[in-house]
Amino acid sequence: MLVFIQKNYEEISKAAARVVSETLYEKPTSVLGMATGGTPLGLYKELIRLHKEGLDFSKVTTFNLDEYIGLPPSHPQSYHYFMYENLFKHINLDERYIHIPSGMVDMNDLDKIHQYCEWYEQQITAAGGIDLQILGIGANGHIGFNEPGSSLGSRTRIKTLTLSTKQDNARFFENEITKIPKYAITMGIGTILDSKKILLLASGKNKAKAIKDTVEGPITAQVPASIVQMHRKAILIVDEDAASLLDNEYEEIVTNLE
Ligand code: F6R
Repeated sequence: MLVFIQKNYEEISKAAARVVSETLYEKPTSVLGMATGGTPLGLYKELIRLHKEGLDFSKVTTFNLDEYIGLPPSHPQSYHYFMYENLFKHINLDERYIHIPSGMVDMNDLDKIHQYCEWYEQQITAAGGIDLQILGIGANGHIGFNEPGSSLGSRTRIKTLTLSTKQDNARFFENEITKIPKYAITMGIGTILDSKKILLLASGKNKAKAIKDTVEGPITAQVPASIVQMHRKAILIVDEDAASLLDNEYEEIVTNLE
């Protein structure tokens, strides 16, 4: 696991965009794992800028981490909507290669849900696996919607959102917790760990405890992100605020990512 500390949000976004663009230059047919939320917005803006300068996404395949259950793709808070608004409609991805888990699975039909989750996993495998998985981190240490206590070997499935996640995400739902869906479909921790490279980003003081636990704490299902310590190619790029509780010394400049 490599940890890089950058000055601020703008710097982590630029450094992350370098990691993504290097991956695409090396392998134009890369499979990218995508995250939503506030953290990757700067990265996505930077990728749009790089695309205008020639970065090609036409052979790239994407798989999103998660989606709220019950929100159709047209809902402004759905992760489908988020991805199109903030990245996909601005770059030259081939629509056929975009995958976002459906939030419209029927919660009364457990067999169908199970089949759908297995199908999503199979699509990832059929695409050759994820080359680079982009991750944010919840203030409670979650990755995707794998909340504390999630099995470290878990695969794509439905999870119930914790109160702390709902509190964090209320800002996207007019600050009304009751408007936030109860469930989400999410890649599992095992699915994420199968990615060939992981790029975890964090910004802000509210992520400092989660980053401390992830980087310097024990590996535990109570802090799902801590499992990245086990990954052979995990890159963490965090700003000074998110790094403020770390005790050890880390890199300042993103170089030599291998
Ligand atoms: C989003 C996701 C979540 C977020 C995390 C941090 O697809 O999987 O794990 O990365 O909740 O969210 P922000 O970036 O909004 O602080």
